[in-house]
Amino acid sequence: MTFSVTSSLAHVNLAKIGLAGVRYWAEFGRWLMHLDHWPWVGATTGVTCGMMMQSGLGGSGGREGEPEEPSPVSDEFDSLSYHVPVLPAEVIEYMCPEPGKLFLDGTLGGGGHTELMLQAGAQIIALDQDAEALEHARQRLRSFQGAVCLLKSNFRSFPAMLEEAGITALDGILVDLGVSSHQLDDATRGFSFQNDGPLDMRMNPDEGRSAGDLINEEDAEELERIFRDYGEERQARRIARAIVQRREEKPFTGTADLANFIAGVSQKHGKTHPATLCFQALRIAVNDELGALEDLLREAPRFLKPGGRLVVISFHSLEDRIVKHTLQKYATEWHDRPEWPEPRRNPDYCMKLLTRKPVEAGPEETKTNPRARSAKLRAAIKLPS
Ligand SMILES: C[S@@+](CC[C@H](N)C(=O)[O-])C[C@H]1O[C@@H](n2cnc3c(N)ncnc32)[C@H](O)[C@@H]1O
Repeated sequence: MTFSVTSSLAHVNLAKIGLAGVRYWAEFGRWLMHLDHWPWVGATTGVTCGMMMQSGLGGSGGREGEPEEPSPVSDEFDSLSYHVPVLPAEVIEYMCPEPGKLFLDGTLGGGGHTELMLQAGAQIIALDQDAEALEHARQRLRSFQGAVCLLKSNFRSFPAMLEEAGITALDGILVDLGVSSHQLDDATRGFSFQNDGPLDMRMNPDEGRSAGDLINEEDAEELERIFRDYGEERQARRIARAIVQRREEKPFTGTADLANFIAGVSQKHGKTHPATLCFQALRIAVNDELGALEDLLREAPRFLKPGGRLVVISFHSLEDRIVKHTLQKYATEWHDRPEWPEPRRNPDYCMKLLTRKPVEAGPEETKTNPRARSAKLRAAIKLPS
């Protein structure tokens, strides 16, 4: 099978994933060459690549076709300090990775979940919108070259990517939402008020408006909406108005400045920092996290084989509510209302729930990985059509 770059692919690159994704698309094309005899890759795949080479991992290291230099960093130390994957055993239980299966990991992060699925023999297409995460995972997963393809993309764009590649059916889709520990800990990314940094919060720093842009430019009504809708912050109006007043004298530039200001305005007391909900809200708004999740959930069933799994790990009630309602919608066969003469079949019915209630981490895990405390896993399986 020969691959050549097409104009339609170039169009998708620019329109859907931005210029930064082009390099990764080329890698995707090369990787697919391994898979062209597999049933889930169409004979007329649209993903194309001019160069023939053996490659599995997107990224910039090494010359084409040559093995890369070994990483100077101890993989084990590096991975654990970057991010500890939550609910690892449960992810494996619900995804059921095994040789011959192809999965999409929409949130690569430190690569922990992807690595576990690779160890079970599966093949993975893994996405992250953060170039740093991809670079880290590329090092970590180098021994699985050929079995994994790493792409820089928002997971909401996954249908366009798979369609271009001629991949119509996956054995499973995993998303482990939010940010990684590394992103939180790195003050220069501006996700946390614990360490002072620029007010950024973009998972993909090449695109979109930063938290500073929102805080210094949006009007009080919009800031109030963000704090209320994405943070469920009771003092949303008060805080929003105070921010708008203060920025007239001096714009906000740093996370500590904003956090201290919110603490002074809200006069909340307690264990949790008074700016916690506003920071959560800003991060969700900056990255359109709920919109991306809704887009992914809407498209996911179309790309799953019968028996394919959808597994979502969320970390706050806004996300979990969306996951719960969407999976319920897919798992409901009939709708009924008193005014209808008879029940009507739900046109969205296509999945069976594997988890009636969300699966949560046990005490052993939360002791060693406090981040797992708020994790909620929900899973469903695609029904035969
Ligand atoms: C919680 S971490 C995932 C950790 C990963 N499962 C592991 O085992 O290391 C979330 C990652 O997903 C990425 N992410 C979040 N939302 C995304 C989206 N809409 N599209 C692509 N990547 C996203 C973040 O940049 C972050 O690296």
